[in-house]
Amino acid sequence: MVPSIPQLMTIERHILEQQHRHPEATGALTGLLYDIALAAKLISKETTRAGIANVLGATDSANVHGEVQQKLDVYADSVIFRMNDHTGRVCVMASEEHDDLLHIPEHHSSSGHYVLIYDPLDGSSNIDVNVSIGTIFAIHRKVSPGERGTLEDVLQSGDRLVAAAYVIYGSSTMLVYSTGQGVHGFTLDPSVGEFLLSHPDIRIPSPGRYYSVNQGYEKYWTPGVRRYVKWLQGLDDEGREPLAGRYIGSLVADFHRNLLRGGIFLYPGDMKRPEGKLRLTYEAQPLAFIAAQAGGYASDGVGDILALQPTDLHQRVPLFIGNRDLVEKAEWFLKTYDQDYLATYMPHRTTATAV
Ligand code: AHG
Ligand code: MN
Ligand code: MN
Repeated sequence: MVPSIPQLMTIERHILEQQHRHPEATGALTGLLYDIALAAKLISKETTRAGIANVLGATDSANVHGEVQQKLDVYADSVIFRMNDHTGRVCVMASEEHDDLLHIPEHHSSSGHYVLIYDPLDGSSNIDVNVSIGTIFAIHRKVSPGERGTLEDVLQSGDRLVAAAYVIYGSSTMLVYSTGQGVHGFTLDPSVGEFLLSHPDIRIPSPGRYYSVNQGYEKYWTPGVRRYVKWLQGLDDEGREPLAGRYIGSLVADFHRNLLRGGIFLYPGDMKRPEGKLRLTYEAQPLAFIAAQAGGYASDGVGDILALQPTDLHQRVPLFIGNRDLVEKAEWFLKTYDQDYLATYMPHRTTATAV
C-alpha cells in the first residue's frame, strides 16, 4: 500500500497561487517571499537552540538607537541581508540595526524592482529569557529613477506597500504574510523544513478580548491615554466588561495574539517619549498593512498609520493597532483629552482628519 501523499499547502505553493492571479507578475515578488521564508527558517533554527548555540547574550556594539545589540539581532540581520543581496530582486534594503541604507554590493545586480525593510529581531530584550520574539518585513516597489535604490524608495507611505510579513519564534515558528489579498499564516514543520498553511484568511475577531500596554509607564501617560486604558478596564462610568490585560514586550507576539483573538496593542507617546518607541518604517507600517488586510486598523492616535509619509528611516511613531472600533475609541480619547499633547508634539497631525 503506497502511503497517501498529504495535501500540503506549502508557503511556496500558496505564494505561487497568489502570483497566478496577477498575469503581469514576473515572479520576482514570489522569489523575494521565498527568500524571506528561507531566512526565517535559518533564524528559527538559531532561536530554538539559542542557549546552546552561543547566540545568547549581548555583543559589545550598539545600534543607531543606542540599544546594545544582542547576538541574535546581529545574526538575524546578516542572514536576511545575505539571503537578498545577490538575487537581483531587491534594489536596496534597510534594517533597524543599521543607521543608513543597505546598498546591494557592487558585484551583484542592484536593478531589482523591490525594496526590503526589516526589523531582524523584534523583542530583543526577551531573547535571553526564552520568551517569544519575531522578525518584521516590509516590501515596497522601487519608485526612484536609475538602477540603485535610494532613500526615496524606502521612505514611502504604508498605503504603497506591496507586501508585509512577520515571523514569530514561539511555541512554534509561524510566518504570517499579506500581498494585499488577505492575511495568511503558515507554521514551520521542522521535520520537513517547510512552512505549511495553518491559518488561511486570518480576520481579526470582534469584539476584541485583550489590551496590551506597558502599564509600568502609567505615570508618564497623557490624560487621554490614562482615561482610555481605564475605559478598556471597564473602570469608567460606562461599566463595560473589562478586556483582559496581556503584555509580552515583543511587539510581534502581542500583535499576533490580538490578531488571532481580537484586541488592541498600544505603545503611545507619553511625557517621557512624546513620539513613542516603535519605528514607523519597519514596525508600524508593515503591521498596519497586515492589520488592515485582516479587517483591523492602526493609528498614531490621530489617524491612519498607512497614510503617514515617513521623513526618516528610523523615525518613531505612537502606535495603536488592532480592532478598528478599539483604535478609533483611542483616537476619540486623545482628540477629547489630549489637545495640549497633540498641539505640542504632533502639530503636523492635528490638522489631519482622522480617517
Ligand atoms: P526591538 O527588539 O526590535 O527593539 O523591539 C522591541 C519593542 C517591541 O518589540 C516591544 O513591543 C517594545 O519594544 C517593548 O518596549 P517596552 O519594553 O518599553 O515596553
Ligand atoms: Mn522591534
Ligand atoms: Mn529589533
